[in-house]
Amino acid sequence: MIEIKQVTKRYTSRGQEITALDQISLQVMDDEFLTIIGPSGCGKTTLLKIIDGLVPHDSGEILINGRRVSGPGPDRAMVFQNFALMPWADILTNVAFPLQLRKVPKKEREEKAAEFLAAVGLKGFQRHYPHELSGGMQQRVGLARAMVADPQVLLMDEPFAAVDAQTRQLLQEDLLNLWQRERKTVIFITHSMDEAVFLSDRVVILSPRPGRVGEILEVPLPRPRETDSIRRSTEFVELTNYIWDRLRYFIRRDEAAQGLPR
Ligand SMILES: Nc1ncnc2c1ncn2[C@@H]1O[C@H](COP(=O)(O)OP(=O)(O)OP(=O)(O)O)[C@@H](O)[C@H]1O
Ligand SMILES: [Mg+2]
Repeated sequence: MIEIKQVTKRYTSRGQEITALDQISLQVMDDEFLTIIGPSGCGKTTLLKIIDGLVPHDSGEILINGRRVSGPGPDRAMVFQNFALMPWADILTNVAFPLQLRKVPKKEREEKAAEFLAAVGLKGFQRHYPHELSGGMQQRVGLARAMVADPQVLLMDEPFAAVDAQTRQLLQEDLLNLWQRERKTVIFITHSMDEAVFLSDRVVILSPRPGRVGEILEVPLPRPRETDSIRRSTEFVELTNYIWDRLRYFIRRDEAAQGLPR
């Protein structure tokens, strides 16, 4: 279980202090798929980086299975929007990299990397370089690389934002397949209401300036969800509409607080 307890984060930039996150509290269950949605600048990336141990926070604490997070660790892996692959290394080497860091022998790590490349549908591309692949394929590589060392927790920051709409739906389905097969806890950030509902057990809506937990919503849709009809169901549409209503409310409330004209 991941316990986020009253986490507050301030940044100082150009002599001004801003509170990016204000007393965020949240629990994520083992094997849960949790999505965070919220307006631009509300602190989503900041929160994910704090959970990953990449960015320090000012107060509060984060516990993973009762152990306090004080830096990055092998129990967590991050998937980035811009893929963040090593351009000079082929796909197999990229995916094997987390195992290389852990000093796993070459043969063993390449076998494992090949297995995960196959699992994301890239069997024939092991010796290709990142620039030879499409955005969607590069993101599949990013996913394989995150999975290869078998972390408990996957942290995903808008991983599918840079790919076209059709590829995005396919990636969502493949991610759910992998998640069900590998049993991971996922914290997933998105701007897409559809994506949040399709993927998640629960959706956390953050309200902006400072980032706070606005609302937490259960998604009671049955699994497996990798069917066409689920996106067209009344329940699905109602849930996405509800999230948009709540988001719009938080954004308008913030605008009013800032005294912005409408
Ligand atoms: N390194 C930094 N230094 C100063 N301020 C920062 C830094 N990183 C983020 N911020 C500020 O913290 C706030 C939250 O930023 P963050 O990137 O976490 O938002 P976000 O919700 O991920 O936004 P987006 O949806 O656009 O990705 C913003 O006001 C941003 O300007
Ligand atoms: Mg962000």
